[in-house]
Amino acid sequence: MKIAIVGATGEVGRMMITCLEEFQIDAELDLYASERSEGTILYFNDDTITVKKLEENSLQNKYDYILFSAGGAISKNYAPLAAEAGNTVIDNTSAWRRTVHIPLVVPEINGDMLKGYEGIIANPNCSTIQLVLALNPLHLKYGLKKVIVSTYQSVSGSGHKGVQTLEKQKQGSDDNGIYSERIELNVIPQIGSFQDDGYCQEEDKMHYETARILSLPDLAMVATTVRVPVLYGHSEAVYAEFERTIDLAEAGNILSSAPSVKYHDNTYVTPHNLGKSNDSHVSRLRFGTDNKSLTFWNVANNVRLGAATNAVRILIKHRELNQS
Ligand SMILES: NC(=O)c1ccc[n+]([C@@H]2O[C@H](COP(=O)([O-])OP(=O)(O)OC[C@H]3O[C@@H](n4cnc5c(N)ncnc54)[C@H](OP(=O)(O)O)[C@@H]3O)[C@@H](O)[C@H]2O)c1
Repeated sequence: MKIAIVGATGEVGRMMITCLEEFQIDAELDLYASERSEGTILYFNDDTITVKKLEENSLQNKYDYILFSAGGAISKNYAPLAAEAGNTVIDNTSAWRRTVHIPLVVPEINGDMLKGYEGIIANPNCSTIQLVLALNPLHLKYGLKKVIVSTYQSVSGSGHKGVQTLEKQKQGSDDNGIYSERIELNVIPQIGSFQDDGYCQEEDKMHYETARILSLPDLAMVATTVRVPVLYGHSEAVYAEFERTIDLAEAGNILSSAPSVKYHDNTYVTPHNLGKSNDSHVSRLRFGTDNKSLTFWNVANNVRLGAATNAVRILIKHRELNQS
């Protein structure tokens, strides 16, 4: 199979290469980035691949899949060209997530919509993927009505420049880098710019994408998204209300058997313990305000599950459903 990655030198692009290896995808890879990284050597299954500069005609070749992760503007310009050339595009940016005819996919939840589909497929926002994987199995049993979530999001969620900003500050720099405030030894209650309603873009993405992926247009939801001085791994404190009465032990069992979810009873997970996990980790499950509500602690690797892993799982699901 022939696969291209656009944005291959970034936090997510590099992890896409790793995930393709780990999921044992047998592929011939073409890697693209900007001219800054032209000529960089990257590795795939011990083969060396030279990164090429993305140009207007780069994606006119026929690929089985093109994975985009070079920012929204590049996806807006290049993904339609790639799709028109007959390629299936998996786009990791926010460029196409609100386009109604483009599927927004977490394969464990709504992957079946990929059957017979060709064109651009949107990969959801990182903080949404880990949340919906945990909420969906509970929703199927108890009927989700309302979600209140506060996030604690790592600097790698802002790309490599976020990682560099924190690393430099740890070495004594006074430069705020890409953030509005110092991030080392601090927390910043803003991810993306503020809208007229007072919510920031990341919060708005979580509201829209959660409702869309769970097919719950009337879901009541409030997110507060916060950047924290953690390198990798997003955490979320989740409160959820349901239509039906919950049995707490049963809810734990439901989470234990849910795809791509790891449920931890009597202990909890922090970003530091995640290792190479591709799962959404749920711990500290307890009743909320009554026996129709739950609250829990949710942690996942944003660059893996929140981006590269979900993209590769979309690829695998799409191939599985459309191979004749
Ligand atoms: N990080 C996360 O946790 C996460 C999660 C979900 C979604 N996303 C989304 O994924 C995208 C990439 O994020 P990231 O974290 O990987 O960012 P990043 O570390 O900043 O990497 C950006 C990548 O895009 C490439 N690029 C930039 N401008 C380009 C251009 N004009 N032409 C071709 N390539 C260009 C860069 O190449 P150079 O090396 O040449 O600069 C690099 O490979 C963003 O849209 C982000 O919102 C990120």
